Amino acid sequence: VPTSRDASGRLTFTGAPALPFVELVESTPAYVYDLDAIAAEARELKAAFEGEEHLVAYAVKANSAGPVVRTLAAEGCGADVVSGAELAVALGAGVAPDAVVYSGVAKRDDELDAALAAGERGILAIQIESVEEIDRVAARARAARRCARVSIRVNPAVERHALDTHDHIATGHDEAKFGVPRGDVAAALDLVQLHASRGELALVGLGCHVGSQFTSTDGYVDAARTLFGLARSALSRGAFADLRFLDTGGGFGIDYGEGCPPRPADFIKAVRKERAAAGLDALALLVEPGRSLVGAHGVLLSRVIQTKTTLAGGVPRRWLMIDAGMNDLMRPALYQAHHRIVPLVIQPREAVAVTDVAWRVVGPVCESSDDFGLHPLPETAPDHVALLDAGAYGFTMASRYNGRPAPAEIFLRGGAVVARSAAGDARAWVEERLRIASA
Ligand code: LLP
Repeated sequence: VPTSRDASGRLTFTGAPALPFVELVESTPAYVYDLDAIAAEARELKAAFEGEEHLVAYAVKANSAGPVVRTLAAEGCGADVVSGAELAVALGAGVAPDAVVYSGVAKRDDELDAALAAGERGILAIQIESVEEIDRVAARARAARRCARVSIRVNPAVERHALDTHDHIATGHDEAKFGVPRGDVAAALDLVQLHASRGELALVGLGCHVGSQFTSTDGYVDAARTLFGLARSALSRGAFADLRFLDTGGGFGIDYGEGCPPRPADFIKAVRKERAAAGLDALALLVEPGRSLVGAHGVLLSRVIQTKTTLAGGVPRRWLMIDAGMNDLMRPALYQAHHRIVPLVIQPREAVAVTDVAWRVVGPVCESSDDFGLHPLPETAPDHVALLDAGAYGFTMASRYNGRPAPAEIFLRGGAVVARSAAGDARAWVEERLRIASA
């Protein structure tokens, strides 16, 4: 059971269980999260600001579970949300409206209204992602009789190859749908300035978010440099007295097994240096990390249903069929991501002679992409396995494909279960599907 952590903060699964093992695996698939490790991750990141004003706006999309968002809120984190529902989770979990930013290329009017209605003056910032969006936000602000605080999310058009990550999660290049294109920022500033003069909008920030799972700080810092240049020209207009923060986005990578040399704090240190060089120390930094706060501190527990042996081109192949599928953890199917898989053992591993062989681990879903890849695992198939580093973009991306209910979630603090949610109900799914036919 995941009760101890190694030097890099990763959960380990060997050693005598401090928790009733059976209790944790009675309902699989189940996500298990270490709230202490998540809190420690937030503290380490915040320490990189060395006491200066800043905001760590946790990207709720990575893991929106109440206990996780509450834990991060208690550590002083704000939230980056991308829907009205995520906004409601953040506020409900105790994040102050003043610490919420709302990103997204296509926010509905009712979602903008909710952002404007929060607290005394709406959320900290609605992130403008297109010139076209500016009039829409101003119109909702007028209707709400409030001044909308906005930040312009710039697309800095970083060279695609400078963003060292998977194509599907690189967002700061000029073919992406995200952000105000660098060349349109001046026009966006003009329009915001016009609405500001009518008291409908106030420009409080400038930001960018250029992708996710960066394992080097280079692309991130490149983007920040471009952002800072744009911020200087915005400031030179002398028209934006409310401008308070620079948001360099999220994207700090974690080590999924192939290494990730920079720690999240290294990204902060690098952009603080860049901001000083740009002479912008008067503006506070805001960052939007999701994965790096939670990714390494959650695992997906799964039961082995059966094994199968086949010949693949004359070579024997061992398949390990588990009860977690691509609907529970979509990252391998969607991004060819590799999540390490370890057997759950009650005995310290050293105590038993184990020969590892290569198992191809797959789920029950009827798709070839329901495949977690090759993993060294004991020749005698284990009863249960844990898929590591599943704390971010695991449960939040789960689907009900093939009639599979949402997995259970279990939250640990101080080595004890402090919260849990039951797995979705397969019968409810059946009834829901059938009700359509008979309505
Ligand atoms: N801010 C914005 C505006 C974002 O779009 C994202 C992530 C973040 C912050 C947080 O990025 P992070 O620190 O987690 O890298 N499902 C993919 C990741 C998609 C990221 C989408 N945006 C995955 O499983 O790898």
